Amino acid sequence: CGGSDSGSEGGGDDGKLTLGFSQVGAESGWRTANTESIKASAAAAGIELKFSDAQGKQENQISDIRGFITQKVDVIAFSPVVTSGWDAVLKEAKDADIPVILTDRAVDSTDTSLYESFIGSDFKVEGQKAGEWLAKEYEGKTGDVNIVELQGTTGSAPAIDRQTGFADAIKANPNLKIAKSQTGDFKRADGKTVMETFLQSVPKIDVLYAHNDDMGLGAIEAIEAAGKVPGKDIKIITVDAVKDGMTALAAGKINFIVECSPLLGDQLMETAKKVKAGEAVEKRILTKEGTFTPEQAKAELPNRKY
Ligand code: AHR
Repeated sequence: CGGSDSGSEGGGDDGKLTLGFSQVGAESGWRTANTESIKASAAAAGIELKFSDAQGKQENQISDIRGFITQKVDVIAFSPVVTSGWDAVLKEAKDADIPVILTDRAVDSTDTSLYESFIGSDFKVEGQKAGEWLAKEYEGKTGDVNIVELQGTTGSAPAIDRQTGFADAIKANPNLKIAKSQTGDFKRADGKTVMETFLQSVPKIDVLYAHNDDMGLGAIEAIEAAGKVPGKDIKIITVDAVKDGMTALAAGKINFIVECSPLLGDQLMETAKKVKAGEAVEKRILTKEGTFTPEQAKAELPNRKY
């Protein structure tokens, strides 16, 4: 299983809140910023954080959670790699009276009593914002528009919802066609290799929709290597708005970015404290986020922290 940063045992009775957190991995710039936010907010809130990196594997997250139960932490939080397959381990946490908070990604458990709260973005709305921008770009124009899609990790909430939201938003215009859609696992290297295969198999690509900046940035390398101009020959839409993505947007290599904020640490610590104190918390805590055009990226970049 993924390595834990803290070896000490248990929540204990020292009055300090102990939070066990199982992170997805380190697949993207977004994830790195999310990990930093969680570590910094825990330190600032005086919370003892037991941080575990699951290296993209659900089985590692399940064993992380079991480890937190054995250590009797006060609260467990995790960002589920995929949506399904959590009921058994969440039930174990519930039976051990350890509250669970979901951050960033949802689970598909129908029994919502298995967790206290879910803090994070609405990925479907993110997909819709991407699709709405594209629909507007091609409003009133004729001719087929061939779109290729780089999906996130198969079975993950952001991949499922960003795909659905985007498809919903473009469906009114039959010219907008998704020619190919394949996973790039939210990773830059995979974005590049999958884009290479798209470029070989789709004769005319007009648009790339990548479920995160990193895959879009990998794809840009493939597009340039194929002698095409990203942002002009192929319009590019991504999600996240991390610094590297915003830099490419400001340079005109990406055309539009839908923001997904990784700064969930403070809300998580606040919610963990309330849960520990037995206070009521919101079942769904939604992250606020916007969208960026190249001009907006230029203005925002100097302030961008991640
Ligand atoms: O769950 C959030 C997604 O996971 C981010 O958009 C992506 O970059 C990350 O890997």
